[in-house]
Amino acid sequence: MNYSDSERVASLLEKLGYLRAEKWEDTDLFIFNTCSIRQKGEDRVFGQIENLDRLKRRNPRLLVGLTGCMVRSTSSRNSQKEIKDDLMKRVDTIDFVFKITESHKIGEVLAEAEPRLDLPELAEADLNDYLKINPKYTTKFQAFVPIQIGCDKYCTYCIVPYARGREQSRPMDEVLAECRALVEYGCKEITLVGQTVNSYGLSALDKTTQKFEGIKDPFVTLLTKLDALRELGLNRVRFTSPHPHDYTDALIQAHVDLPSLCQYFHLPIQSGNNDVLKKMNRKYTVEEYKTIIKKIRAKLPNAAITTDIIVGFCGETPEQFEDSDKLFKELRWDMAYISRYSARPGTVATKAFKDDVPHQEKARRWHKLNDILEECSLENHKRFEGKTVEVLVEKFNETTGECEGKSRENKVVQFKGNQELVGVIVDIKIIKGLSWLMKGEMKTA
Ligand code: 5AD
Ligand code: SF4
Repeated sequence: MNYSDSERVASLLEKLGYLRAEKWEDTDLFIFNTCSIRQKGEDRVFGQIENLDRLKRRNPRLLVGLTGCMVRSTSSRNSQKEIKDDLMKRVDTIDFVFKITESHKIGEVLAEAEPRLDLPELAEADLNDYLKINPKYTTKFQAFVPIQIGCDKYCTYCIVPYARGREQSRPMDEVLAECRALVEYGCKEITLVGQTVNSYGLSALDKTTQKFEGIKDPFVTLLTKLDALRELGLNRVRFTSPHPHDYTDALIQAHVDLPSLCQYFHLPIQSGNNDVLKKMNRKYTVEEYKTIIKKIRAKLPNAAITTDIIVGFCGETPEQFEDSDKLFKELRWDMAYISRYSARPGTVATKAFKDDVPHQEKARRWHKLNDILEECSLENHKRFEGKTVEVLVEKFNETTGECEGKSRENKVVQFKGNQELVGVIVDIKIIKGLSWLMKGEMKTA
């Protein structure tokens, strides 16, 4: 989601006449697209902004702005509004902030922050709605396309519903038109992004707009229509993240029926204990989650399955944590994003429960799961040895002479290659599975 947002902001800045700087020191404008999921992310942003202070003293033209989940209102240091955003009050270096959903106001807020800037007016089409802004995609062959904003799930630990608002889906025609244009431009891999992509078209707000009336399963319908873009050169479709609560049999079947849809499932579990899941307001049980995995593995035994898991949630006992540990050993996810619980202001968990698992104990639990993850990841990578996978090459490293890309299962693969292979899909025979990646060699015809 954040990649996609940054690409949209970059596109507007380019229209305003900005160019991408090669070096930090040459930059006149920094915009931090922030994430408030965990405190660590926020701390990192403040650390980097502090570093910019030095640069600002050397370059008085330098402007620093912030957007993303940390920002709740759009304003600049010169705004007349009495109450400026808290972040500007806290950190002198910040000149302006804007809500990510108000990216289309970037020209206005920049001009207010620095009246000497002579910026062109943006076209009407760019000023309406932030999801309609055509992004400046980082690569020609891969793109992230947002299909919904906000989230209605209200997991008790999560800031997203407060930072991003109510769940709302983009009209299907608009998503398809953007994807079609991307594919015509040479895009081979599209990742649909949203907070809970598989409830696409089904939110309370979506129902009030009638945009999805009569469409039985909007997400599967969207995937099916996207699959037709294979004719124009689309090779891979991915999506992130779905919510287990809305994972239908039809969606699993779509992975079997639609050749473009990668056999890669990211299914956040968050905890292996039912009482903790309930307290998190996750709306499913461990048993229901396991049923989904069973169905996936029955139909697609080679699919990669990954997860998100939180350790040290409020009141999580050592025994409840052991349930997460046991479930990990049982399900052996290909990859997991493990996080230590971080209390977020304004969430139900912060108001109603105590963040009572000590810091050190959270670290112990994190390391324990991370050790299992490393073992599972190595084991899963070893299974690929001797097999051939399709790799979409993302980069070439001149120093090592190696290309790096991802297989359809989203596994990182490195092999000896050259710059010309970037953006190309190649068959790679896996020679060695390591903990976090696989090494292979290019098959010669
Ligand atoms: N503390 C720790 N991890 C969190 N996540 C979301 N909110 C928090 C929090 N307050 C994790 C969840 C989610 C992922 C994007 O971030 O695992 O799936
Ligand atoms: Fe946050 Fe839960 Fe929504 Fe995911 S589903 S964004 S964890 S509230």
